[in-house]
Formats: sequence, C-alpha cells, structure tokens
Amino acid sequence: MCGTHGDHGRTVPPAGEGLRIVVVGKGGVGKSTLSALLARQLSRRGLGVVAVDADEQRNLAATLGVDLATVESIVPVSEDADYVEEKTGARPGGGASGMLRLNPDTSDLVDRLSVPAPDGVRLVVMGGVLRSGGGCLCPETALIAAAVAGMRLHDDDVVVMDTHAGVEHFGRALARGFDTAIVVVEPTFNAVQVGVESARMAAELGIDTLHLAINRSRSAADVERVLAYVDRLGGFQFCSTTVLPFDEVVLTCEPEVGTLMDGSPLADATVGLADGVLAGNRRPAGSVT
Ligand SMILES: Nc1ncnc2c1ncn2[C@@H]1O[C@H](COP(=O)(O)OP(=O)(O)OP(=O)(O)O)[C@@H](O)[C@H]1O
Ligand SMILES: [Mg+2]
Repeated sequence: MCGTHGDHGRTVPPAGEGLRIVVVGKGGVGKSTLSALLARQLSRRGLGVVAVDADEQRNLAATLGVDLATVESIVPVSEDADYVEEKTGARPGGGASGMLRLNPDTSDLVDRLSVPAPDGVRLVVMGGVLRSGGGCLCPETALIAAAVAGMRLHDDDVVVMDTHAGVEHFGRALARGFDTAIVVVEPTFNAVQVGVESARMAAELGIDTLHLAINRSRSAADVERVLAYVDRLGGFQFCSTTVLPFDEVVLTCEPEVGTLMDGSPLADATVGLADGVLAGNRRPAGSVT
C-alpha cells in the first residue's frame, strides 16, 4: 500500500507504461459516476484516456455520455467472436476444451474495438465473464485478462477501469498490470467494509497505490464516521482521502455526467482526486481534502 512498495512519488507514470487505475467498491456507491467524471477530466487535461467497463451491467458508456443508440450497438469484447477467436484460438462459449493462447497480443484492442466517448475518451466495453476471475480458462476470460494487462500505453495515457460491485474482480486476471486503485465508499459501515476488503485484496495482489473516495458525503460527521469505520476494521493506509459531496444535480442529469463536468460540487471535488492520483499522493488517511 501507499508508502510501503514501489515508487509513489512520481508525478507522471513511468515512460512507456502509462497509468492504470481501477475503481472499486460496494454496489451503488458511485463507481461508474466517478469513473466517468475522472476519465473525462483527465482527458480534458490532455492525457490519452481509455475508459474500460469491466462491469457486466455495462453502465459506463451511458454514464460517460455516449448517445443511447451507440450504447445499444456496442458489442463487448468478450462477445466479439471473431476477435476472441483470432486472439485466443477459440470462439466465445467454447469453454476450455481446446488449446487456448493465454497471453495473446492484444495491443491492438483499443484501436480496433474502442468506442469514442465525449471529451476524447476512448471506451472499451469488456463484457460479462469477469466473475470467473482467475479460475476459468474460457477464451473470453483469457482474452480479457490479456487485454487489460496488454493494452499498449504511452507514458501520458491513463486507463480508468470501472468494475462491478465487490471484490470478485480481483481474481488474478484483472489485477495484473494495475498500479492504482480508487476505493469508493459511502458513509455506511457496509460500504466501508467492502472498501477496506477491496483495498487489502488489491494491495495483496500488487496494486500498491490506493486512494479512498468518500462519496455522497453530506457533512463532516459523515467523513468522521467513515474514518472511524476504517479504524474499526483494522485500519488501512490510503495514499489520499477525498470527500465527494452528495450532489442533487447528479440525480437530475442521469444517466450521464456531461452536465456535471463544469462547476458542479461533485466534479470540483473529483478534480482534487485526479490531482492526487496523478501525483501518487502520499497523504495519510487522516488528511482529508
Ligand atoms: N455524489 C453523488 N451525489 C448524488 N448522487 C450520486 C452521487 N454519486 C453517485 N450518485 C448516484 O448514485 C447512483 C449510483 O451511482 P453509480 O451507478 O455510479 O454507482 P456504482 O457504484 O457504479 O453502482 P453499481 O455497483 O451498480 O455499478 C446513481 O443514481 C448516481 O447518479
Ligand atoms: Mg457501476
């Protein structure tokens, strides 16, 4: 975790590697909202942003503001039979019966299968086989594991990956290659419990820069409560803690975050989180922004 492994002091990702950020947390805490805001904000800063939807519910396209006709036409990577077969040697749904290429070259994935989203974000929709984690050797899982780790990034590229709720996506497959996690919680014990569990699992799997985002906060008491819950659960040293306010406007512009981008309290707070993530911020959990 922060300050214990690796080089967290960098202000830009290492040359040629880019930065891979995974957004995790309990169901409904705001992962997709935050992923979309962050992706669009980072893209506006001139970074090359690939937003990855790794939740089988596939909310990220609409949340980013891709028009609904395009959203409906998106074929997820795991269901693109020709691509899956080309890369793994087997068709989707083919199970583990044949010989699979487990480490296919997927460096062309973004160029071939991404969908343009607002503010220059490129969106990759992975599809619905991720629950199988590290155990399943079906072609879709082999492909997705390789796809996330094998994306070719330039040093000013950033991957922002939205995930489904909980911790199952931390099968070996998806953790590979990620260096940063944003753990999203809301001010409830259950959300914090899932968040802390996610953070520990991420750290165990080598994701060593973890940021806490306290979403839907309505008061200083909400923040204090979350930090107390973290302590009660044994503590965790996050690199930074960002408070994201409850924002009525979010509910009026669903499903997309476009109208939030300029001047909403939530978007303004997300800018601070983006700064912290890019800086590999080392502040301890007690110093809240
Ligand atoms: N700061 C906020 N203020 C008010 N509403 C919010 C805020 N953040 C998110 N929401 C709303 O909360 C709901 C859940 O958000 P979102 O879909 O981003 O959560 P999620 O963690 O991705 O959920 P899931 O686990 O189902 O994928 C949405 O209706 C969203 O608009
Ligand atoms: Mg979501």
